[in-house]
Formats: sequence, C-alpha cells, structure tokens
Amino acid sequence: MNGTRVIAVDGPAASGKSTVARRLAERLGALVLDTGLFYRALAWLALQRGISPDDGERLAALVDAFHVVAEPLPGQRARTARVLVGGRDVTSELHLPVVDRIVSRVARQQFVRTALLEPQRRAVSGEWAVVAGRDVGTTVFPDAVVKVYLVASPEERARRRAEQRGQATPEQIARELADILERDRTDARQSVRAPDAVVVDTDGLSVEQVVDSIERLVRVRTGDSSTRGSAGGVRPPLA
Ligand code: C5P
Repeated sequence: MNGTRVIAVDGPAASGKSTVARRLAERLGALVLDTGLFYRALAWLALQRGISPDDGERLAALVDAFHVVAEPLPGQRARTARVLVGGRDVTSELHLPVVDRIVSRVARQQFVRTALLEPQRRAVSGEWAVVAGRDVGTTVFPDAVVKVYLVASPEERARRRAEQRGQATPEQIARELADILERDRTDARQSVRAPDAVVVDTDGLSVEQVVDSIERLVRVRTGDSSTRGSAGGVRPPLA
C-alpha cells in the first residue's frame, strides 16, 4: 500500500487502545491514528445537524464535511491526528458523553463503515502509523505489519475510564461499567479480532508493560532486534 506500514491495535471500548497506540507511536516516532475519531466526527455532525444516528445514508454523505490532519504535538516525535470541521479543531468535543451515547449506533451503519474506509486509509497514506480501532487488522488495514488485540475485563476497563475522567468514585465506576457493557453489546458486530492478531491481556499490566511487549513484537517482525531506544528498522521515513 504505497509505503504505508501499519501497526494495528484493536480492542473493545476502554481496553487502552488509544493510550497504548499513542505511547507506542511516540517510541517509534510514527503517526498515531485513532479510527474512533472518524465515527465520533460523524456522530458529532449528526448532533449538530439534527440527523438521526440511524440514518446511515445521510451520515455517509457527510464524510467530506470533516478532515483528519496529523500534526506533531509540542516536544513529541509522534504525530497525532486531529479532526477539523470547516477549519475548526473539534477533536476535544468528540469524547463528550453526548457523543459516546450515540457513536455505536452511527458505527453500526454499513453505509457509514463503507464510506469511512477510504478516508481512514488516506489519513496514513505513505506513513509508518500505529492505528487503533475495532476492525483495523481485519478490514481497514488487513496487510498491517503487526496486529494486536487488547483485552481487559469490563471491571478493569470501567475503572480506567473513570480514572481518565478524574472521577474514580464507586458510583462513577458503576456508571462506566454499565456504559461499557452496553457498548460491548452494540459494538459486537464491528469489533472483530483478526485471526493473525496477537491477543494482549492488559489486566494488571501497566501501559509501559503493554507497550514494551508490542514494541518487541514490532522489532521482531521488522527485523530490528534491539528492544528499546531509537527506532532503527521501524523508524518511519519522515521521523
Ligand atoms: O474507540 P472509540 O471509543 O473512540 O470508538 C468509538 C466508537 O466508534 C466505538 O464504540 C465503535 O462503535 C466505533 N468504532 C468502530 N470501528 C473502529 C473504531 C471505532 O466501529 N475502527
């Protein structure tokens, strides 16, 4: 795929994909792309424009209404994707609870999934990229160099999500758990593990431990036997 080389990090809601993908990309100096942003952008647009999250055809027609751009964050080697609508950066609004509540319904629409395939591929075209999502290893980048599928118990995922929001109270954890179980149900169809993906159970592991194990895998697959430090064989062309 014209020089594009992808490390696919798939897994269910709050399994740590985004955090792990970002840290891994920082170490490798690669682009990091969270494909959930595409579905969230459409869900955000649906709310803005009063379109039903179940109206796949109208939502699919909106794929050109937003752009995903990758820019380096200050002091970091990795480049992180951000979402622009009409030139305005809306990335920080895409993780609001109102978007969380409808995004799975948007993502279930086959029109939407088909329309988003090309923009997802274009966003990392010609790059070394760590791409996080649900169907990256199966559908978006079936040729990914390395595929991992992160798993963690629903309870662990609920606790992490509550901590991320800075509200790790028992009540908030219970709310997050209910949300995660509901999203697991609605996402079941699109959240598919590639047969050649390596399953990484992150329960009880720190982010760094998970990233270490994936980085080792990347270096073995790309023929770079060193396990840490600057990226040799996995260094992206433009880092
Ligand atoms: O990963 P994140 O929580 O940002 O994803 C939001 C939603 O987008 C998921 O719950 C899922 O419904 C959908 N999604 C998807 N396929 C992807 C990425 C996300 O269906 N590759």
